[in-house]
Amino acid sequence: MAIERVVDTSVHEDDGEEQKVELSLRPVSFDEYIGQRRMKANLRLAIDAAKKRGDVMDHVLLYGPPGLGKTTMAGVIAHEMNANFRATSAPSIEKAGDLASLLTNLADGDILFIDEIHRLRRAVEEILYSAMEDYKLDIVIGKGPASRSVKLDLPRFTLIGATTQTGNLAGPLRARFGHSFRLEYYSDKDIQKIIERSAKILGTQIETAAAELLAKRSRLTPRVANRLLKRVRDYADVNGDGIIDQATAERALEMLEIDELGLDPADRNMLTLMIDKYGDRPVGLNTISALTGDEASTIENYYEPFLMQLGMIMRTPRGRVVTDLAKKHLGL
Ligand code: ADE
Repeated sequence: MAIERVVDTSVHEDDGEEQKVELSLRPVSFDEYIGQRRMKANLRLAIDAAKKRGDVMDHVLLYGPPGLGKTTMAGVIAHEMNANFRATSAPSIEKAGDLASLLTNLADGDILFIDEIHRLRRAVEEILYSAMEDYKLDIVIGKGPASRSVKLDLPRFTLIGATTQTGNLAGPLRARFGHSFRLEYYSDKDIQKIIERSAKILGTQIETAAAELLAKRSRLTPRVANRLLKRVRDYADVNGDGIIDQATAERALEMLEIDELGLDPADRNMLTLMIDKYGDRPVGLNTISALTGDEASTIENYYEPFLMQLGMIMRTPRGRVVTDLAKKHLGL
């Protein structure tokens, strides 16, 4: 990522302390989890049914933009199932053997969470098919004419896969998930509730008007809301009595250069460059990447989803187009 962004929806490996705080802010149960009501209702039913039968739940696919709580929801499902939660991510499963060892170390009823599941390698993905379908591990022992294939029984487990891009998921993999849920952007009201809940956990007093203001600028995304809250808390601790009131929140957001819609300098820079160089013409993803210096995948996963949700960018077959709404917002 070219610039450090408060509104960044990604998780960084080196966040250390940040991540610990973030973990403590995560809801553990359905009752604590705010928003995504339809998904919760459907999952509750599936969990109750599985428990009643004394069986594991069908595999679950969670998809949607980053920062909306896919990993959190996977943890909640494990908690509600009273199951062990084993979390990993596709890029860290390098070889078929890595997955085989993960699977054979599971116990009956465990939940295996694989983040960024669209990034699984082909050879690894193929192991997963029979594991998901009939809890068997298909492995080939030896090489050449003397090689033979063996099937090992695996414990009954539930796979929860998360992805920002269902489009990039292989059809056969997608078909093996019994449940598939799209995480939606949150309402301002729900984001406000999340901010107030997080402030309580952090031991910070926040006035209602300030929570409302922060909520409006959080890109409808809990991860951004919690980041903003922490930065504004820093500001209130240093420049005031630690209480976050409306004036403090406004000043802190101004310092962070986050505008009324939650756009930061990086968003505004990208939109401005696109308008300056291309006007109303569509711009290809790689061209935008060359303009801003960000990787194409960063633009696609972290800038675009929210700008599209706002209606500031449209995707067309020939590239991205900046809308009149964006021009108006930028005062152009
Ligand atoms: N923190 C992050 N996401 C949350 C959610 N959906 N509900 C409550 N707290 C959260």
